[in-house]
Parts: sequence; C-alpha cells; structure tokens
Amino acid sequence: MRILIVGGGGREHALAWRLAQSPRVSALLACPGNPGIAQLATCLPQPDSTAAYADLAAAHRIDLTIVGPEAPLVDGIVDRFRQRGLKIVGPTQAAARLEGSKIFAKQFFDRAGIPTAWSVQTGTTAEAVHHLKDFSFPLVIKADGLAAGKGVVIAQNRGEAESAMERLGPALVLEEFLEGEEVSFIGLSNGSLLFRFAPTQDHKRLIDGDHGPNTGGMGAYCDNRILTSAQNDEIMDRIMLPALGQMRKEGTPFTGFLYAGLMMTATGPKVLEFNVRLGDPETQSLMVSYRGDFAELLDLVANGTSPMGEPAWADPSVCVVIAAEGYPDKPATGRVITGISEAERAGAVVFHAGTQLSADGQLVSAGGRVLGITAAGETLEQAQQNAYSAVSKIKMEGAQYRRDIAQKGLRRW
Ligand code: AMP
Ligand code: GLY
Repeated sequence: MRILIVGGGGREHALAWRLAQSPRVSALLACPGNPGIAQLATCLPQPDSTAAYADLAAAHRIDLTIVGPEAPLVDGIVDRFRQRGLKIVGPTQAAARLEGSKIFAKQFFDRAGIPTAWSVQTGTTAEAVHHLKDFSFPLVIKADGLAAGKGVVIAQNRGEAESAMERLGPALVLEEFLEGEEVSFIGLSNGSLLFRFAPTQDHKRLIDGDHGPNTGGMGAYCDNRILTSAQNDEIMDRIMLPALGQMRKEGTPFTGFLYAGLMMTATGPKVLEFNVRLGDPETQSLMVSYRGDFAELLDLVANGTSPMGEPAWADPSVCVVIAAEGYPDKPATGRVITGISEAERAGAVVFHAGTQLSADGQLVSAGGRVLGITAAGETLEQAQQNAYSAVSKIKMEGAQYRRDIAQKGLRRW
C-alpha cells in the first residue's frame, strides 16, 4: 500500500513512524512533512487546495490518504477525494462541522442528548454581554470557528469576560465551567461503529501543576487505567455511539477519527469539545503504545468495514513536548537542536514537530512545539522515567518543557 500523510507536525511524525513498521506499507509520502518524517517518508510541498491534493495523490498512485490536521478536513478534502474515487480516512466537510463550529457542536449535542456543559450561543457582542447575568464565574467563553487553540478563554470576572468577548468576536459559546479530570477519548469510525483507542490525557497548560497559558498541548500519556471499564462503557453508550447515530440520522455520517475532549465530572462524563481528527500530542503516545498493524486498521475503515475487537495496547507511554523559548506567544526560531541520537539511545522515540534544516544542514527550531520525546515502560512510572531521561539529552537554548507529564495519573494510582 502507498500511503500519503497530510500534515507536518509531531502527530504526523508519529503516524509515519507507526505506519513505516507495517509490512503492508510499500511507500510513505507526506505533505509537507518535516525533517523527522523525511527519514521515513518522501516529503512533498504542501498543495494549496483540496483539488491539488487529489491531483497529487492520483499522480503518486496513492492507495490511502490519512489527514492529521483539522483545516483540510473542514475545507472538504475528504469530499474531494471521494468524488475522484481516491481512498481517504477522515470526515466529510459536513461532518467536520463538529469541530469547525462550536455553535454547531453545542446544538448537535442537544439534538443527540449528549451530556455537555450548559451554554448559550450568541451572534452579537451585545447579546453575549446581556447573557453574563445567566452565569457565575469562572465562565468559559469560546469563539465559534477554528482558532488554533486560542479560541477559549476562562474568565474569572466581568472585566475579563468583556475583554474576551471583544477579542473573540460576536459568534460565541458561553458555557458553565466544569470541574473534574480531563480525558481525551479517541476512536476511529466507519460511520456506525467505533474502534476505541486507549484513553489519553493531555497537559494543555504551559507550566507544571497546570499553570500558565493554554497551549496546543505540552505532553500526554496513555494508560488504560485513566478510565475504568464502566466509564469506558458509559462514554461509548452516552456520547460516542449517540454522536455517530445522530450524524447518520442527519444524513452526514461521521467517518474517521472522532476525538471527544471530556471532563469527568462528579455527575459523569461531559463533552467539552469534539475534534474530527487525532490529538496532538496524544497521537505520539498512542502510536508508541499501539501494537496492532495500523495500516491494516486504516485500510479496513477506509473500505467501510468495521474494525472489530479490542485494540492491541501494550505498555503505558509518556510524551514530553519540548517547546521553543517564547512559546506560546512568540516562539524563537532558528535555535540549534542537538542530542537526538543520545535521546533515542536512552530508549525514547523523538518525534519532530517544529523543526527544520538550516542552510548549513543543522537541525533548528521552526515552530512553537519543537519535539515530542516519547517513551513506553512496563509501568507508567517507568515510561515517565524513560521519557525524562531522554529529554535530558536534548539541548536547545531556551527550551521549555513540563517536568510533571503523567504525574496526574501517578498521583491517582
Ligand atoms: P476546548 O477547545 O473546547 O477543548 O477548550 C480548551 C480547554 O479549555 C479544555 O481543554 C479545557 O481545559 C478548558 N475548557 C473548555 N471548556 C471548559 C468547561 N466548560 N469547563 C472547564 N474547562 C473548560
Ligand atoms: N491535544 C489537543 C488537541 O489535539 O486538540
């Protein structure tokens, strides 16, 4: 099978790494890829339209395409490929609205009876200000459209709420603040059934102990103990399967990766958001823990066959993100990175995210999240130790990383 990966971050490097190990894969291509992916796949420049992606897939005789980021899905890359008879894993443009519009998603949760935070949706800033009286603080304010992780503000008082409303624009979701443990619940669907991945937990805040600004994700871990089997069943029965059923009922069946960002509250799991793709950095951890043939799984789903059975999950794993100085506001680019082979010798897989090769062939930072150092272990504690001993080998001026990835899990068990 010749596989094309759309994207060029840590998530896509992890997919390439796992797919490269499948005996079914004869060629791997990536658009645009990154220097880490380039060691496993042929990297091609990023096409500028869904039509150009389809031309590229046809020209390179691609058997199956997998899409990492949300933007091409929201732009309709899946519809375009299917019109051209090209196989692709992902949701159609209509189904991708679950992530592309928070207002659509909240109204969808209502129609499907899916538990979520109480909210109101607004179309003007005046309307949003008017609804402030319906909430207490902290209050969660979300911009309607895709915002690359910058569209959610947790306002502690009226002043913060009003300035967030100014900044985020008129189409908003105002929502009650939920307390609990956050879990990333990801599955792969053929439209009716869901192949459930092991639960993961992301660490969105920049600083240890969940302090500092929100980021794209500073690290993740994968461990089956994050959810009990009763909690898994409850999430499948009250959230994931009703979502798939409602999408079918509305004539927009959901195919591809469905990722529920959940809050495990005192009254059960509630959805914070749906993403229509794999998580980053959750995927780095998932791919290191997954033991099945990922290419076979993707192929089954792309053919509409239901992936059956429980997935093969091996040991727990931990991914620690190394971010550039100044991230998330103004990441420093061009910083020289060394120590990758030492980190790999220490037993970790080093996934590239924001890296590039400089004119003189040195690996340098080129984005906010630079690397994802990922390691498995017989226990979560061991995985954490393996990941951090590899992290200590990486040198990059001004590097920022959290020292407590997976600590939440270890404290619980
Ligand atoms: P979202 O993009 O909707 O997942 O929101 C980003 C982050 O904001 C989440 O990962 C949570 O940490 C936080 N968040 C979102 N909605 C809520 C909520 N209703 N209550 C508490 N925290 C929230
Ligand atoms: N890890 C959060 C996300 O992928 O949206």
